[in-house]
Parts: sequence; C-alpha cells; structure tokens
Amino acid sequence: MIDLFEPIIDGILTNGYGSTDEFLTPDETKVLASRLHQRRGAGQFREAGTGNQQVLVENAMRGDEIMWLDETTATPEEAVFLHRIGEFVAYMNQTCYLGLRDYEFHYAIYPPGTVYKRHLDRFHSDSRRKLSVICYLNTDWNDLDGGQLALYLPTASGDTERQVFISPKGGRLVCFESGLLEHEVLIATHERLSITGWLKTA
Ligand code: OGA
Ligand code: MN
Repeated sequence: MIDLFEPIIDGILTNGYGSTDEFLTPDETKVLASRLHQRRGAGQFREAGTGNQQVLVENAMRGDEIMWLDETTATPEEAVFLHRIGEFVAYMNQTCYLGLRDYEFHYAIYPPGTVYKRHLDRFHSDSRRKLSVICYLNTDWNDLDGGQLALYLPTASGDTERQVFISPKGGRLVCFESGLLEHEVLIATHERLSITGWLKTA
C-alpha cells in the first residue's frame, strides 16, 4: 500500500495535488460502479445541495446527485474502499503529521451536461476539511468524453494562474488540500461517476 500512497503525497508536496491511477483495480472499479447504479436505482441518491438552506445557490453551482457512504450499511466492496482510505489516512498521519481524525465520502453521479462550477471545498460547509479526495469509477472513459477535473494552481503573485485538467478515468484517485485549490468539474457527454470525500482534522 505504501507504493500506492507515496506518489500521492509526493505530488501534493511538490505540485499541490497528487494522484495515482491504481487506487482501485479495474474489477473494484467496475463493481463499485454497479453498486452506485443499484443504489441510485433504489432511490438512495439525492440532488447535491438539497436539504439545506443553500438549495438555490447550490443547484446553480452543481448538477450532481450524491449518496453518503456509511460504514454500517456499506456493502463489502464499499467497505474495502473505506478501509483503504483508512490506511491512506494512517499513512498520511505517520508521514506528514496532519492530525487527520475522520473522513466522509459520498458517491457522486453527474448526468450528461451537468457541471460543478469553480469552487473551494473548504468554505463549502466544513472547516475541518483538510484534504479533498476524488476517486473515479468510469470504466471506459475517453478524453473526448470531457468531464475533466480542472484544478487552478496558485502561483507566485503576478504570474498567470496555472490550470491542470484531469480526466475522470476509472481507478484514478486525486487528492489536494481542501483550503488551497479552487477547482471545477467540466461538462461531459456521458454519466460521470465517482466517490468523493474529505479527510478531516479534529
Ligand atoms: C466536489 C468536487 C470534483 C470531481 O465534489 O466537491 O469538486 O472531479 N468534485 O468530481
Ligand atoms: Mn470540490
């Protein structure tokens, strides 16, 4: 697992974001994608942002539907995912002394044509959010399908902002500091699936 986690940490420290293409195997990706579809078919998803006072603002911002994962109702493959995240958290705490205490994750599906406009996760709803983590579940994603995650990397003052575009390829995980990187989800031609979450401090 260390082989898996080390490049992510390296990336965060040197570039402001880290990623690996092998957080999930192709089989794990496929089965989580089908769980997502099953749960959505069973009516367990809701539009992101509904159920609180920010409904109107949120709905203009983002078009995804989500379902929060819960250890107590997780299927075996969801439990495997959450367990691996737990190992990542433990490794981050050992190597970077981040004081991570907790995490929260939800499935997300962006229907074709939907986006999540440029935003910062930290100001969103929870200042305990230290690291943002996105793991994609799209088994056959093609660059031409769109749906990239656009990261806006801060630069020394005076420089033009640098943008990075990351395709939501299945098995890929991206991680960055929630309070530092503004980012957005670009429009896609297909349903775009992920598990997204936050590693939180006390
Ligand atoms: C989010 C988010 C990015 C992505 O859910 O806050 O920014 O690539 N997701 O899905
Ligand atoms: Mn975000």
